[in-house]
Amino acid sequence: MTAKAVKTKVSQPESYDLVVTGGDVIDPILGTIQNAAILIADGKFVSVETDKKKINAAIKKTDKANVIDASGKLVTPGLIDLHVHLREPGREDEETVMSGAAAAAAGGFTTICCMPNTSPAIDDQETVRFVLSEAALADCRVLVVGAATKRRAGEELADIGDLVKAGVVAVSDDGDYIQNPDLMRRVLEYSRMFDIPIMQHAEDKYLVGDGVMNESFASAKLGVRGRPAVAEEIAVLRDIKLASFTGGKVHIQHVSGVGSVEAIRRAKAEGVNITAEACPHHFTLTDDLIDKEFDTNLRVNPPIRTQADVDAVIAGIVDGTIDCIATDHAPHSAEEKEVEFDQAPPGMVGLETVLGLVKTYLIDKGFITWQEAISKMTVNPARIIKQDLGDLQTGRSADLTIIDPDREWTVDPSKFKSLSRNTPFGGWKLSGRVEMTILKGKVRYSEGE
Ligand code: DOR
Repeated sequence: MTAKAVKTKVSQPESYDLVVTGGDVIDPILGTIQNAAILIADGKFVSVETDKKKINAAIKKTDKANVIDASGKLVTPGLIDLHVHLREPGREDEETVMSGAAAAAAGGFTTICCMPNTSPAIDDQETVRFVLSEAALADCRVLVVGAATKRRAGEELADIGDLVKAGVVAVSDDGDYIQNPDLMRRVLEYSRMFDIPIMQHAEDKYLVGDGVMNESFASAKLGVRGRPAVAEEIAVLRDIKLASFTGGKVHIQHVSGVGSVEAIRRAKAEGVNITAEACPHHFTLTDDLIDKEFDTNLRVNPPIRTQADVDAVIAGIVDGTIDCIATDHAPHSAEEKEVEFDQAPPGMVGLETVLGLVKTYLIDKGFITWQEAISKMTVNPARIIKQDLGDLQTGRSADLTIIDPDREWTVDPSKFKSLSRNTPFGGWKLSGRVEMTILKGKVRYSEGE
């Protein structure tokens, strides 16, 4: 054979779907930011390119309309949110799979995990398949978290094996703590067997009783029933013990108090299989705001707490005790929220404000870098649910978020894509704005369009 005959062709695509040029690309695995182009073909990443000649050659093979100039912008793997409430089935007036996914794309997300506290609960294969089929054409990838117990009633295990077969990436009774320790032990054993996390809403139900805000000086002053932080701490401590006993994998949702952050920090140091998330409202809001505003959008479970708790949550984010930032996007109708504080359902929407809150309250204040923030919103959540997402590796689904890092904007809930507007952040001035969201190489959200 002649040398000419054995010469192998470098596999370059005939054409590219999309080339994103000029932006500062964040690689959350390497922890780098570098000016580079991202080349995409067949909905997948081909390469992150810094060589000008190769970039120009790729641009020549791409339709002009599909070359995106991201100069002055940050380009990151598509954001991932482990904690979102879509209200379908059951409350389609508050959010549907499609509307929630559109809100997610507007917030920079290309993947969200939806919680099972729908009506009926997502506790069987049929309901999982229904949500997945609704999501097929949505603006963002929707992964399903199945109920850990039947009807989320905390009495009997759900058919976790069946749920896994139908495609759930985790189980949870979110909204409620799995109070029965024996049941939680079994859930953890299943979590180990199927290698999926149990996402736990950690608040002991007896200690929270019918409390509606943090139990503190603020609640005593208002004469409002409180939910003490120790309810979360005890719940977390029990689950740490059970996780270490069973070898199961527990993920603590929306960590909100000093004691729980400390408990998780210690457990991680001891090698327990535990991960944790924090939500923007727990690192930006304190319970004395309820005194001043009595805004029912400030009612959330677990509740917003004191400055010491906010500081502890931020310290946990900084030192890695808290692995990821999630929104706990919880849509509720205006009618349901326009009532007395203790009558309002808990929860606030979060998908369309999280990026600006992270930029303004964590990055601009010097707590974490852009790279660290993006890790907590991409590769870290992807690892928790064991999905090959959240980074820029060749062959991965070409999911990207383009961010204007310093753009200032004011939160206007009337512009939300979500069907619900229940946010306490309306009118807040934030810095850092999502400009474009790309899913599988296709633009699914473009600001202003
Ligand atoms: O405030 C909350 N709202 N916390 C939860 O855990 C559930 C959520 C909801 O579904 O509305």
